[in-house]
Amino acid sequence: MDLVTCTAPVNIAVIKYWGKRDEELILPINDSLSATLASEQMHAKTTVSISPNFTEDRIWLNGQEEAMANPRLVNCLREVKRRARESGQTPQTRLDWHIRICSANNFPTAAGLASSAAGYACLVYALCQLYGVKGDLSELARQGSGSACRSVLGGFVRWRMGSDAQGHDSLAHQVVGPEHWPDMRIIILVANDGQKKVPSSIGMKRSVGTSELLKFRAENTVPKRIEAMEKAVQDRDFATFAALAMKDSNEMHATCLDTTPPCVYMSSTSHQVSDLVHKINEHFGTPIVGYTFDAGPNACLFLLKEHVPLLVHLVRHYFPTSDTTFKGDPFRGRDFDV
Ligand code: DP6
Repeated sequence: MDLVTCTAPVNIAVIKYWGKRDEELILPINDSLSATLASEQMHAKTTVSISPNFTEDRIWLNGQEEAMANPRLVNCLREVKRRARESGQTPQTRLDWHIRICSANNFPTAAGLASSAAGYACLVYALCQLYGVKGDLSELARQGSGSACRSVLGGFVRWRMGSDAQGHDSLAHQVVGPEHWPDMRIIILVANDGQKKVPSSIGMKRSVGTSELLKFRAENTVPKRIEAMEKAVQDRDFATFAALAMKDSNEMHATCLDTTPPCVYMSSTSHQVSDLVHKINEHFGTPIVGYTFDAGPNACLFLLKEHVPLLVHLVRHYFPTSDTTFKGDPFRGRDFDV
């Protein structure tokens, strides 16, 4: 039997991917840009094994056996095997052996915390190790979940939408490595760790079909904003970075509300967090903290190391019932959650 285990971290988008031009190949309608977390705190861990003794393919997710028929899983497995076959490195007999996949996240699944990104990035990486596949993995990970293509690289990563109908140029590129902005911190405020009401794939399909704002966003706003964001990251210009991240998150959620029926992801707690961030920034006269919300109510806050104690103090003060137990050393680790 051959067995490989690996982990992959989540990524948090500051310029959002929302909407596909091809549902099957998972090709987006705009570029997106994200930060891949560096710590071991929020990751997927996956073990894949093959053996001539296995009689069928099987998969377990977070301890529960699931159907292998999931089309995204089938696509990833087929594509990795196709590359393995083409490279001639893997004997056909090994490719014919049945597979077992066991994957778990160490954070809430499907609560809008990018679990599918870490999960598919990890699966694709593990499969490529198992079958000896080399080269760009982002195209393979993208076919599991769009945002997963950004989790195969560290630091700040841009997913270029590409123009090829087959998606061969719809790939992730590293903007800067994890060492580029050592003072950057991300705090995740978990407002609710339940499953989201409308999965992002369904929500974005609905937006593509019904939202005028989505079209405007993809054609007019994002192309300019993403260039400004890339420059802000390169220049380590925190105020511009935070302002753009908040604007983009709000535009994505406005698009979700412009959708019929509307997709409501942010809760009253999310809005209270957003208010608090704006009040702090007003007080300082410049953004010292930025937020972004994915398809769920949890806030991802970006800030510099020097402002972590203040932010934690204010969160404790305004959300007194919250459990603000650090799961890491904020001054030594790169990421932690509250
Ligand atoms: C709001 O990557 O989960 O997190 O491609 O259908 O699997 P699929 O969608 P997914 O969507 C992520 C949407 C987002 C924004 C982002 O991460 O850019």
